[in-house]
Amino acid sequence: MKDRVVIVTGAARGIGRESALHLAGSGWTVVACDIAAEIPGLRYPLASPEMLSSLAEHDRIHPLRADVRSPMQLSAVVERALELGELCAAVACAGVISGGKPAWLTDLETHRLTFDINYFGVLNLINVAMPAILAADAEHRRSFVAIASAAGHLPLETMSDYVASKHAVIGLIRTLALDLKGTGITANTISPGSTDTPILTASAEIFRLSSAEEFATHHMTQQLISASEVASMVGYLLSDQAASITGTDIRVDAGMLS
Ligand SMILES: NC(=O)c1ccc[n+]([C@@H]2O[C@H](COP(=O)([O-])OP(=O)(O)OC[C@H]3O[C@@H](n4cnc5c(N)ncnc54)[C@H](O)[C@@H]3O)[C@@H](O)[C@H]2O)c1
Repeated sequence: MKDRVVIVTGAARGIGRESALHLAGSGWTVVACDIAAEIPGLRYPLASPEMLSSLAEHDRIHPLRADVRSPMQLSAVVERALELGELCAAVACAGVISGGKPAWLTDLETHRLTFDINYFGVLNLINVAMPAILAADAEHRRSFVAIASAAGHLPLETMSDYVASKHAVIGLIRTLALDLKGTGITANTISPGSTDTPILTASAEIFRLSSAEEFATHHMTQQLISASEVASMVGYLLSDQAASITGTDIRVDAGMLS
């Protein structure tokens, strides 16, 4: 029997990295991709090539550089996955944050950059991965998961581009699930609250907070969420136990949206 392969984007650090490690630990073969480079126009550093390549220490993880804005680079990721086995799942974690200005002062380039990664990056992954997932053995659990955000449900001051992109991802994945009806393939989003990763530190700077820990005050738990907690939910949604969970959004938000 061929190995079950999953693609994880944004896998060099944060939620993507924890998801890649969690899935590899559960027996998946993982193609872990990340831009692993800086993006002009963003005000904080993204993952480094070393962070991405260090994942190769795990023998079930195959790191590959790819920018989710590029369908061509994502196609190469799918090709790599098919060399390794059957592509049964894809997890869209890559995402960026910008913000800092009210909606009417946020320039179009900023909106476009955020949407190119947070929305079109997910759409690009669907477009290249879904034909291969549809072609995989239907005996396997097959699924698509995108990391949305609590910001896909409520407004965040001065973050119109991010908030709109995450609302859009939730709509996209709900519709994807419907388009997949009868195939057995599930599609869901996960909406994390404030999770302890570098993007949260960047957000704290935008909101001029003294530290990212301050975001914990919005949680019922009064604690930040760990990336591994979100990764566990990714693992669950890809598991046999979650075959009836589709077309929905799972909140890992410490009660933030309640
Ligand atoms: N951390 C939080 O509080 C939080 C809350 C809600 C949602 N999210 C979402 O979770 C996802 C993961 O974020 P994180 O918290 O791990 O942040 P992070 O910044 O630690 O990780 C994001 C990863 O995506 C990669 N990336 C960025 N642009 C890319 C591109 N164009 N192509 C490929 N890779 C790219 C980065 O290099 C980085 O490794 C994002 O979609 C984010 O919006 C995070």
